[in-house]
Amino acid sequence: MHDTFTDDPLDIREAVAEVPSVVAAIAARVAGVPVVMVATSFTVGVSYDPPLVTIAVQHTSTTWPDLAGASTLGISVLAEDHAQHTRQLASRDRTQRLVGIGSVDTHGGAVLLEGAHSWLECTVEAVHRAGDHDIVVLRVLRFARDPSRSALVWHRPARRRQVAAG
Ligand SMILES: Cc1cc2nc3c(=O)[nH]c(=O)nc-3n(C[C@H](O)[C@H](O)[C@H](O)COP(=O)(O)O)c2cc1C
Repeated sequence: MHDTFTDDPLDIREAVAEVPSVVAAIAARVAGVPVVMVATSFTVGVSYDPPLVTIAVQHTSTTWPDLAGASTLGISVLAEDHAQHTRQLASRDRTQRLVGIGSVDTHGGAVLLEGAHSWLECTVEAVHRAGDHDIVVLRVLRFARDPSRSALVWHRPARRRQVAAG
């Protein structure tokens, strides 16, 4: 087993892409326009009291600085039906990301995707530098879930089938 260990950062990056994760769409209305980015770094259960979750955002992201200024952020945990939209949600052209995907605005300015597995409305609690990413700690203001939907589980989409688990 030890023969398979690697300390090469690129190999590690490849390998961790095989670890399954959920896909979260972080979205808010910014200057009248819905802005979204997807993140597989989304982690729940960081704290229960107060309820905190995290995402890790690359320093190169041009979308995050806009979202960071929003008063509240919507997080939609994608459902298995969103599988075909995941790449689109990461399109270079931001205006294409939500095409054909229903969304609703909350009173607080967060944007939530229709058909998701679950939804969180959050505020930014803290930001910590971590290598080439920032760990963004988010306080959960409200949570809702559609028990009829299974979350999309993502791992190495280029080489492996995406599978959905309940
Ligand atoms: C499946 C998937 C997961 C992603 N997860 C993250 C993530 O956890 N953190 C992140 O900063 N970017 C992540 N990205 C990239 C962003 O969604 C986005 O494409 C990137 O920030 C570049 O666009 P931008 O410059 O508009 O921010 C992911 C992309 C895909 C397709």
